[in-house]
Amino acid sequence: MCVVGAGQMGIGIGLVAARVAKLDVQFIDSNPAQLEKGLLFLDKLLAKDVAKGKCTEDERASVKERITSASSISQVAGADFVVEAVSENAELKRKIFAELSQLLPAETILATNTSSISITKIASASQKPENVIGMHFMNPVPVMRLVEIIPGLQTSQATLDTTVALAQKMGKTTTTSQDVPGFIANRLLMPYINEAIIALQEGIATREDIDTTMKLGTNNPMGPLTLADFIGLDTCLAIMKVLHGELGDTKYRPAVLLQKYVDAGWLGVKSGKGIYEYP
Ligand code: CAA
Repeated sequence: MCVVGAGQMGIGIGLVAARVAKLDVQFIDSNPAQLEKGLLFLDKLLAKDVAKGKCTEDERASVKERITSASSISQVAGADFVVEAVSENAELKRKIFAELSQLLPAETILATNTSSISITKIASASQKPENVIGMHFMNPVPVMRLVEIIPGLQTSQATLDTTVALAQKMGKTTTTSQDVPGFIANRLLMPYINEAIIALQEGIATREDIDTTMKLGTNNPMGPLTLADFIGLDTCLAIMKVLHGELGDTKYRPAVLLQKYVDAGWLGVKSGKGIYEYP
């Protein structure tokens, strides 16, 4: 397998592929600093599991042996399955899919981990749109049990079947969604998070009480505001904008407070401040 993009999602996907499905994994990231940071993060996750007795030294060594990396798509090593996990930029993704489909054998499946961009639109940049599919992993990938699978308009049944089988080999349960804005997960999750931010904006309750109500009252691992910071407020805003722009309904309008926080650079855990502070 080849994973394009060595951010948190890409690293998680590659780690699970190498560790659970026992596949050879090549990470490609055009930013050498990001590649190094990503591989260090992968080492840290493996070291934590070794320390906790969830992974043996031998297992760690064999996972590491299966992993290679490169800094250019032109160095892609003949993979039969690629998962793209770069940032949510439709033009960037289309460029990568056009390049990959030129470099790889016609039968290679090209999957995108996009959380809200149309699969059909990404697929149309490749030479074989029938081999392109959405494979939406959840964060943190090693922990979350679900992968949403999204066939585009032209995706073949064979591509869908192979992708579902691969996700299962990686230990995940799959669901299948039509290629619509937000698919299933974000169509439901983002309006929930957005509404929690509107509740905060309206002063209905404190941030803590909004979170505690949903965490303890509906048995969620995190309250919606904590989850928004964890996902990244910029990502939440971007997905709300896709839902609002493409579905048109005002019920998807991003909360003013969400836009303000992003404008301020308060993006959540990754920037040290979001709805909460992360010193
Ligand atoms: N990468 C890998 N593993 C991680 C991790 C990360 N970034 N963060 C936490 N973990 C692991 C921990 O190492 C720990 O593993 P072990 O039990 O093997 O030690 C396990 O997760 C539990 O972590 P903690 O004990 O530190 O903390 P916790 O019990 O509070 O769980 C959590 C943390 C798993 C993140 C949990 O709070 C949770 O499930 N939150 C909800 C996450 C969620 O909803 N994700 C989906 C977001 S939506 C999305 O991804 C789609 C999109 O397009 C936006």
